[in-house]
Amino acid sequence: MSDHQKQIAGEAAALRVEAGMVVGLGTGSTAGWFVKALAARSLTGLRCVPTSEKTADLARELGLPLTTLEDVSRIDLTVDGADEVGPGLALIKGGGAALLREKLVWEASDRCIVIADAAKVVPVLGAFPLPIEVVAFGHKATANRIMDVLTDHDITMPARLRQADRGVVRTDGGNVIYDAKCVAIHDPVRLADDLKLITGVVEHGLFLDLADEAIIGRDDGVEVLV
Ligand code: 5RP
Repeated sequence: MSDHQKQIAGEAAALRVEAGMVVGLGTGSTAGWFVKALAARSLTGLRCVPTSEKTADLARELGLPLTTLEDVSRIDLTVDGADEVGPGLALIKGGGAALLREKLVWEASDRCIVIADAAKVVPVLGAFPLPIEVVAFGHKATANRIMDVLTDHDITMPARLRQADRGVVRTDGGNVIYDAKCVAIHDPVRLADDLKLITGVVEHGLFLDLADEAIIGRDDGVEVLV
């Protein structure tokens, strides 16, 4: 069961946290298991930086002490989920629309652990649609420029504006998300660079060279990838 896999990955990651640490709290169901397991440890002197309003609400409810990225200069350890874990611990993130805050927190962290169920481990990134966060103003024009870049990477499916029951999804920062069905991303570094050059693209869900370790939940226990 993938929920069991997510739970044991989250619980294993919570054991890596020590009293007094500044901890980055990821977003999503797997990160939620980590937050719950961390709260259950009742460590002293923790300060936690949530990567979304949703995670902040959960952490508050569980009594974890919160701080912000403005109030701490560095984060000791961040633990977060992923949508895909590829070779070299290259990741796709952003399925929960929190990629911008997540990347800001990851980049401010001394160590980052990604936690995931076994189905997230892939030989090539790209089956999960790549989330791209875009400024709402003029987002359709920005989407056209994103398509030009994707075409240059042999990705021809149109990137789709993320919608939910209540209409267009807005991130915690008020931006919109385009999901690009890439199928296979052969050169994630070049794609990441090319997307960042587009005015209006705030961030993309490629997390490259950021994860130090992955804790993967499997039916028979956790596997650690470095
Ligand atoms: C949120 C994320 C999540 O970590 C990612 O979508 C995985 O979610 P889940 O643990 O629910 O499968 O990147 O922006």
